[in-house]
Amino acid sequence: MLQKTVLFLALVARVLLLDNGLLRTPPMGWLSWERFRCNINCEEDPKNCISERLFMEMADRLAQDGWRDLGYVYLNIDDCWIGGRDAQGRLMPDFKRFPHGIAFLADYAHSLGLKLGIYEDLGKMTCMGYPGTTLDKVEMDAETFAEWKVDMLKLDGCFSSAKERAKGYPMMAAALNATGRPIAFSCSWPAYEGGLPPKVNYTLIASICNLWRNYNDIQDSWKSVLSILDWVVEHQDILQPVSGPGRWNDPDMLLVGNFGLSFDESRAQMALWTILAAPLFMSTDLRTISPQNIDILQNPLMIKINQDPLGIQGRRIFKSKSQIEVFKRPLSNDASALVFFSRRVDMPYFFHCSLLQLNFPRYRVYEGQNVFTRDVISGLHSETNFTVIINPSGVVMWYLYPINNLEHTHVPVVRPQE
Ligand code: GLA
Repeated sequence: MLQKTVLFLALVARVLLLDNGLLRTPPMGWLSWERFRCNINCEEDPKNCISERLFMEMADRLAQDGWRDLGYVYLNIDDCWIGGRDAQGRLMPDFKRFPHGIAFLADYAHSLGLKLGIYEDLGKMTCMGYPGTTLDKVEMDAETFAEWKVDMLKLDGCFSSAKERAKGYPMMAAALNATGRPIAFSCSWPAYEGGLPPKVNYTLIASICNLWRNYNDIQDSWKSVLSILDWVVEHQDILQPVSGPGRWNDPDMLLVGNFGLSFDESRAQMALWTILAAPLFMSTDLRTISPQNIDILQNPLMIKINQDPLGIQGRRIFKSKSQIEVFKRPLSNDASALVFFSRRVDMPYFFHCSLLQLNFPRYRVYEGQNVFTRDVISGLHSETNFTVIINPSGVVMWYLYPINNLEHTHVPVVRPQE
């Protein structure tokens, strides 16, 4: 009897939960929204409007300019691709802007070793007013996406009620599962509930979504980055334990390469998103991005840290009166990443600290690397004071691992005589 019950529950779980085995590390790729928005003015702006051409050109850049090989494999369409529904109610793209359809784009992405993501909204309309996925359309739309060979769905929540969301998000997770095609599921659900318990059941969210937005949209400014960071830090006790392999908090896209951030702020966003085990979705023009910004986004050690297999989200562990904060993320093989972050607006700050003050164990020696400058760090004892010089609204980022354990060298070892 017990065995039968367990089997039954396991079957129910398989059907209800997403359990798609996807995104064991945070997704990396490109998403159109922040930079290209709902620009549908293809007559005046053919290079930048939301169209097949834009996605194919980004796909080419992802494949040819080193992005794909570093892990940036998702090519994700956001809002404003939909043309309407056909006589059977099936979604269709705007054929003026996507003349060959979405399946063609998916094939194109796949032929380049990329994956295609798409956007819909659980409601009457998308946030920009295109036809949404009402509850009666959930299954049909999941099937359509699978037929098109789509690899990720971002399901937004504009024009939906709390009741519809509570029903619709789990329903879509089950419908995606039922297609048999592995489709990563990005939910905006928590963002529409204010992103906190008691209205958000994160255990449920994490069991049906691979990633989820909690908070406001990112805009092209440092102020926006800070407001998101502040929110995440304020609620890190709730958010941090929920994330892990296959389920990630999504603080929204990277702004690197756009107009609003300075060089130091761009590095800071990249470092902070990495320490938070956030998805790395660029939203910038990869056709014109500068070598300096490519350097930030293609930093191999940064990506290794973001993609660490343990998948533990980092936390802010220290905050000083001098407006310096330290973030720490535990990594596999006893390694860790540290971000020293300055909120100052005056000049580079000399920050004095020791690893012991940052909760590292006693009597250890560490080595590693400064993630941006690539300078080697060696022979750093937990107890030794060090100084990092942090630019205003900038970061210093370290990758560290212990090379030995001195715990016992201070204790005489007495061995029994043979
Ligand atoms: C919402 C989402 C954004 C973007 C837009 C599209 O605002 O949060 O990320 O998808 O809708 O309209």
